[in-house]
Amino acid sequence: MNYIKDNKDLNGKIVLLRLDLNVPINNGKITDETRIKKILPIFKYLIEKKSKIIVISHIGRPKGEINKDLSLKKICENLEKKLSKKIKLVKENIYELKKSNLFIKSEDQIIFLENIRFYKEEEDNDNNFSKQLASLGDIFVNDAFSCSHRAHASVCKITKFIPSYAGLQLETEINALKKVTTEIKKPISCIVGGSKISTKISVIRNLIPKFDNIIIVGGMANNILKYKGHVIGKSIQEENCEEIINDIFKLSKNHSCSIIIPQDVVVGKTTKDDAKIKELHQVSDDDLILDIGPKTIKNISNIIEVSKTILWNGPAGYFENSNFAKGSFEIGKKIAERNRLDEIFSVVGGGDTVALINNIGIFNSFNFVSTAGGAFLEYLEGKQLPGIKALN
Ligand code: 3PG
Repeated sequence: MNYIKDNKDLNGKIVLLRLDLNVPINNGKITDETRIKKILPIFKYLIEKKSKIIVISHIGRPKGEINKDLSLKKICENLEKKLSKKIKLVKENIYELKKSNLFIKSEDQIIFLENIRFYKEEEDNDNNFSKQLASLGDIFVNDAFSCSHRAHASVCKITKFIPSYAGLQLETEINALKKVTTEIKKPISCIVGGSKISTKISVIRNLIPKFDNIIIVGGMANNILKYKGHVIGKSIQEENCEEIINDIFKLSKNHSCSIIIPQDVVVGKTTKDDAKIKELHQVSDDDLILDIGPKTIKNISNIIEVSKTILWNGPAGYFENSNFAKGSFEIGKKIAERNRLDEIFSVVGGGDTVALINNIGIFNSFNFVSTAGGAFLEYLEGKQLPGIKALN
């Protein structure tokens, strides 16, 4: 792999910089800036080297359609302030752009392309689209570890057409996760939650041989509760997961890995509702399961207590409404407490989980905080991520 820090020839070069600026935005406001703060070093580095920078990023899942709510405008404005530099957001169609027209004034140094997922070709890893993107710059830098598990045009195929490098943050994340996977101490427990069920459920199957405990909370737990015959009402779930779940339980027996699922839950009729603690048999057809209950919190706490390593990805509930944040808060607080006593090695990853630990002021109580969610889990699986493979 080539690293950008080893490239001595960056002066005046146009760098296509793939970042993951998929940050949480609520009512037009960025609610967690961690992913932005973590990529400031690459900007400072390239600015100092006098490169011209074209930022490529996605936000959300617009599925190839232009969606004003998923514009990168807010992020541009945020970065402008942090870097004290003017940033131009280019909204023209990418196919109409020409390298020679992008940096007209000598003071122009950073431009943003609008949300790359407004183009269907991005997720299709399209050849022509990648070629057109590549034609806009001199070199490509992937500093988006957190979307390197996606075989998309601006992460993968682009590397076919232009000299490509690993960015500073990507390098840091890989080195930290390498350390975790090689120097890991048992018992190891992994907490997996969040709402991206389809991304994570198949990963769990592959994690079983590596962990002593897998604690499943958040959206994915709903699927498992349903599989076990419980009513989950209107809660989020994924279709056709029965076979994977069956495998998960079978494999866990073969590998002596305990699968821990909620014993009780907290429900509401809508995400804005008040919290109501329920036993599993009390959940009704119009309930939404939005957090784990007190018995489950206690159980998870006990497991954290006896673990030597803990990896956490994805909140336990809908923490955006504080009525449903208790499960996630208690998990975070328990890990942080053991970490402060130096009794546990802890790694946390994922946009929402990082937002959550920021929210409760325990960001510095983990050994490593990864910006990555799905990519973090797939890396732990031992898979070579498509975006990393492309750089190799
Ligand atoms: C993330 O937030 O994990 C990355 O930005 C990838 O997003 P995705 O799951 O929509 O591909």
